[in-house]
Parts: sequence; structure tokens; C-alpha cells
Amino acid sequence: MARYAQIVGWGMYVPSEILTNDDLASLVDTSDDWIRARTGIVERRIAAPKETTATMAIRAAQAALRVANANPTRLDLIIVATATPDYPFPATACLVQDALGATKAGAFDLSAGCTSFVYALAVGSQMIISGAYDQVLVIGAETLSRIVNWTDRNTCVLFGDGAGAVLLQASAVPGGVLSAVLGADGSGGDLLMLPAGGSRHPASAETVAQGLHYIQMNGREIFRFATQVTAKAARQALAEADVNLEDISLFISHQANGRIIQSAAKSLKLPPEKVFVNLDHYGNTSSASVPIALCEAIEQGRVKRDDHLVMVGFGAGLTWAAVVVKWGVPLPVPQPSRWRVAWRLARYRWAAVRSYLRRLGRRILSALMGLFVRNNGSG
Ligand code: ACO
Repeated sequence: MARYAQIVGWGMYVPSEILTNDDLASLVDTSDDWIRARTGIVERRIAAPKETTATMAIRAAQAALRVANANPTRLDLIIVATATPDYPFPATACLVQDALGATKAGAFDLSAGCTSFVYALAVGSQMIISGAYDQVLVIGAETLSRIVNWTDRNTCVLFGDGAGAVLLQASAVPGGVLSAVLGADGSGGDLLMLPAGGSRHPASAETVAQGLHYIQMNGREIFRFATQVTAKAARQALAEADVNLEDISLFISHQANGRIIQSAAKSLKLPPEKVFVNLDHYGNTSSASVPIALCEAIEQGRVKRDDHLVMVGFGAGLTWAAVVVKWGVPLPVPQPSRWRVAWRLARYRWAAVRSYLRRLGRRILSALMGLFVRNNGSG
């Protein structure tokens, strides 16, 4: 029997702190007029000191599981799409797995610049369609404020923090993720990069002094690249899914720059009501931008059952990707009962206790082993 990967849950989280264009104008030589005119961004969210990519990913994931009324212990796989993981390793996905109590799930991070979420959606859906897994949680989460040089006006005005998640589930009902197109051109890797902190330039006092741990970007070239690939990738994904351009209900592009989105919409001949834009509130949240946009589109009633959505990402690598989704869930979804909400909270508390007990157990075991070795050695 044919299997389909339906999006059955979705959720987002953004930090509460808002940084406006006027706030930025007091940090660097810029203005609200310049940022609005060149990018469409008005404000962005900035993570609080205690917030990280993992904490935001967990909040978005919990929201997605709540919508789907899904049990974290049934998850088969968690993919966190991010360019700003909490650590190079362990993977942020493992931190999420632990916090959710997803005891059966595999977990890994996926890195494809701002395209990571769309790549991860392609990977997760194929895991389901192939029959390997039944439930895959795909999260896009970023704390770009930690890798932005707040004295560089070319980049600091563009980015923001946040997270979005979707739960993919196996279904016999035709629809869900119908097609995916992935692309890369590594020859443009130097156009958008974080030069230090990897094996080429390990972190050192020198790399920090040179600011090599900050985002470096050739804005004009990235702009040119993005306007070339966005519409093209969307067309390819539509052709693969055998869906006509006129049948698109909503176009959800990576929210990097309003002019890039408009240029793609113009090329695809899409009217404004079929194009979703929310970068005015959040700026470019990289891997989080597409799932956050999806959540807000649903919230605003712009997605209905059987609608065809096109999601497109582009970014560092260079990378690009597009997916076509036939929406399969009736909207709006009913609110969970209070009892369910309480049960869910209790589960997450238990996951925290379980994690603590496992750490404690490891410490006790290692202390006992040490004692045993010392005693045997002296005997
Ligand atoms: N405020 C005021 N002036 C500025 C600012 C600013 N914040 N930033 C740049 N300028 C100046 C420049 O110094 C330049 O001045 P100059 O002509 O005297 O040298 C002038 O404005 C024009 O600069 P451009 O780079 O030509 O401006 P452009 O119209 O290309 O807009 C922008 C710049 C917004 C960065 C645009 O190129 C862009 O959006 N590029 C794509 C960026 C992007 O999407 N990146 C994310 C990719 S996804 C990922 O993987 C993270």
C-alpha cells in the first residue's frame, strides 16, 4: 500500500525580546528607512541569555506534538535543522530528544545554511515514504544573534532568533509532502560563511580578535543567487509533484528579504494573496523562517485541507530546496482538553527526572567502579 508523509502537527516559538530597526540605528550607522526599503524587515526577536537553539527547538516541538496530540515516546526520528547548534557536538537534536522523553527516537542535526529546514523536511518525509519510520519530528531553530557581529551593519540588521517545528506522520491518505528538490553549489561557499570554529580555523584568541566567529556575507551576490534559484526550485518541485502553478494556494519562501520574495512571486506570476510574508516581524531566522511562516499562515486561516503549498529555502553552501505539500489536516484543529495539557506537562517533567536519574546513575556507577579498581589494585 502507498505511504504518504502528512504534516499532522506544527508549532513555533520566538523569544519575547523585540529589537526594532530604530534600536539598531543606535548601535550601527543605519536607519529604519534603509532597512525597511532594502529588506522589508521592521523588527526581529532576540534570544534571552538563558535561551538557546535547543530551548527554543523544544518549545516549538512541544507545540507541534500538542497540535497532533502525539506521544513523544512514539517518535522514530528527530531532525534539528540549524546553523547555530548549542554545541558542535552533541547534536542539538539529542538535547531535544532528551527533553521530550522521546526514548525510541534517533536524533541528528542537519546543516544546509538557511535551507536546512526544507532539506530536513525532504529527508524526514522520505524516511516515512520508504517505510522506515512512522513519525518524524522536523525542527528548524536558530540563535543567530549569537553569531552576528553587532558592529557590522551589513549583516546585523538582517537576522533574528526563533524556532518552528512540524510533525510528519505516515498515512495512507494521498497527499502530504508530494515532491522535494534539493540543490547545492559549493563554489559559492565563501559568499556566506562562519569562517572560524571548525577544523580549518579552530577557535583561538587570534580568530576571535579577527572576528572570524561572526557571519560573513557578500550580500549582493547572495541576493543575486537567491533571486535566481527561488522560482526555479519552486517550478522544479511543482513539475515533480505534477501540480500546476495555478494550483498553488500558498507560496512560503525563506524569509530573508522582501525583494527576493517579490521577485520570485513575480516570476511565478503569483498574486500577493498567495505569497506569505512575515519577515517584517522576525527578520531572517534562517532554518526557522519557513516553519515559523507555516505556523503563522495556519494561524491566519490561510491554509485549508487539500491546499497545495510550496516551501522554498536558499542559503549558505550555497544550497537551495523546494517542497510541494498537499495539506491533509482539517483546520482549525480542536483545542486539547485541560486534562490532556496537564498530562503532557507531567510527561515532560518526567522526562527531566528520567534524564537526571540517568546522569546520576552514571555518576554512581563510575564512582563504584573507581572504588572497585582502587580496592582490587591495593589488594
Ligand atoms: N544601513 C545603511 N546602509 C547600509 C546598510 C545598513 N544596514 N548595510 C549596507 N549599507 C550600505 C552599503 O555599505 C552600501 O554603501 P556603499 O554603496 O557606500 O558601499 C549601500 O548600503 C548599498 O549596499 P548593497 O549591499 O548594494 O545593498 P543591497 O541593496 O544589496 O542590500 C542586503 C543589502 C539587504 C544585504 C541585500 O544584498 C540582501 O538582502 N542580500 C541577501 C542577503 C541574504 O538573504 N542573506 C541570507 C541568506 S540565507 C542564509 O543562509 C543565512
